[in-house]
Amino acid sequence: MITTGRVVIVGAGLGGLYAALMLAPRPVLVISPETLGEGASSAWAQGGVAAAMSEGDSPEAHARDTVAAGAGTVDPEIAALVTGAAPAQILDLTDHGTPFDRDAAGNYVLNHEAAHSIARVVRVKGDQAGRKIMETLIAEVRAAPSVQVMERVLAQGLISENGRVTGVELAQIDGDAISQPVALLAPAVLLAGGGSGGLYALTTNPPRIRGQVMGLAARAGAVMADMEFVQFHPTAIDVGRDPAPLATEALRGEGARLVNADGLFFMEAEHPMAELAPRDVVARAVFAQTQAGKRPMLDTRAALGEAILTQFPAVAAACRKAGIDPVRAPIPVAAAAHYHMGGVATDAAGRSSLPGLWVCGEAASTGLHGANRLASNGVLEALVFARRAAEDIAADLPGAAPDAPALALDFTPGGPALDPDAVQHLREVMTRHVGVRRTGAGLAQAITRIRALQAAHASSPDFANMCATALLIATAALQRRESRGAHWRDDFPAPDPDFVQRSRLTLAEAQQMTQENA
Ligand code: SIN
Repeated sequence: MITTGRVVIVGAGLGGLYAALMLAPRPVLVISPETLGEGASSAWAQGGVAAAMSEGDSPEAHARDTVAAGAGTVDPEIAALVTGAAPAQILDLTDHGTPFDRDAAGNYVLNHEAAHSIARVVRVKGDQAGRKIMETLIAEVRAAPSVQVMERVLAQGLISENGRVTGVELAQIDGDAISQPVALLAPAVLLAGGGSGGLYALTTNPPRIRGQVMGLAARAGAVMADMEFVQFHPTAIDVGRDPAPLATEALRGEGARLVNADGLFFMEAEHPMAELAPRDVVARAVFAQTQAGKRPMLDTRAALGEAILTQFPAVAAACRKAGIDPVRAPIPVAAAAHYHMGGVATDAAGRSSLPGLWVCGEAASTGLHGANRLASNGVLEALVFARRAAEDIAADLPGAAPDAPALALDFTPGGPALDPDAVQHLREVMTRHVGVRRTGAGLAQAITRIRALQAAHASSPDFANMCATALLIATAALQRRESRGAHWRDDFPAPDPDFVQRSRLTLAEAQQMTQENA
């Protein structure tokens, strides 16, 4: 067992890197499964950061939209806290060097995204926000003397003593091989390792994001919240790629329309806000078109014409790579797992139910998103809670920042490998039974199969982490016998006031509840 004075941050997306900088000069070790900048969902975020930055807007209006989109389960105090902190957060990122788009008068250029009552999403070069914010933070982290980054290393488990998290089990990745674990004791652990989109066969998340970080917290006994609420993005570009590239919602904000193979603009009949209806409504409509064989598409031609090439370069590049010319033809789209509103339950300081463990970003469930996250609130939440968790960790640790030399861990090859077929099987089960539309019978079947898969591949901690998250999603979805936000039950298609509260569940409870399915 090795001991470090460094705070360990698991995950190197926007939340992890920002927290590492906020903790300076306290020494930090950032664990990244990939080279920095690769593999983090944040770098793929196209929309931007939601913040009340225009004269006609206010944090109160932003909070109201957040609460309305969340379909009854947003924590209003958290919504007020996060939206209130948003403008200062944008100014801070600007100071850090993020090149947000400005107009001739120097005002931030704002995108309009679904369920926002006003254009409110601060952007970079149209659809480059995530990538550019990450580039800014990576440059700072690389230069920060207090931050050590360990790349191609992943966390497989948490170490606890007397109920307190005291460290992490780490393993090294070498291609498809994984080393044996090394136990590292640390004064505090912050999880910032993303969501669970890759537990589904069709996802917009980077390939390695499969619920592992939520799963390792759940396996250590952390209380999880809102696990049933998985957001599907309606316009993943459907060209058979895994993961699927995104066609940002900002395109619909610019007037792009959803059309099917019969030429029908099908959102008109679905919702008064049509293409700008809440994301869950649009995702279900797109999913229904796909299921009916109607080939849904996003038509940007009338709204943008050639401007898509310069105003949305990431979308244009993804189309080009797939042999689609969006200036001349509509873009085929499908609903894909995109963002998990649920995660490790935290308080307003990012503390989990386990002493010694903080969580921020998509792995956390703070109460901001409710049953349906408002577009571009994800990056905002990651920043606000990274700062709050960093401040809380610093206040929790006694004395001045210790002198902690850089760590060199010795990894021995030969850890239990992850079976790609088992992962694919799990993803298919989740898509089929725990996806955009759910039923009690399908969820029960999913639970049986998740448990069987886990038992058949018990030696891999990475797979155990994925299965833990999958089981929690399916169990929470089975328990919620109503439809609300992103959680749709064909057998309970209406919201039920008895279920308006957020859900909380531990892995032990989920296992207990689903024992009869085993
Ligand atoms: C998008 O650009 O459509 C995604 C933004 C988000 O998920 O917040």
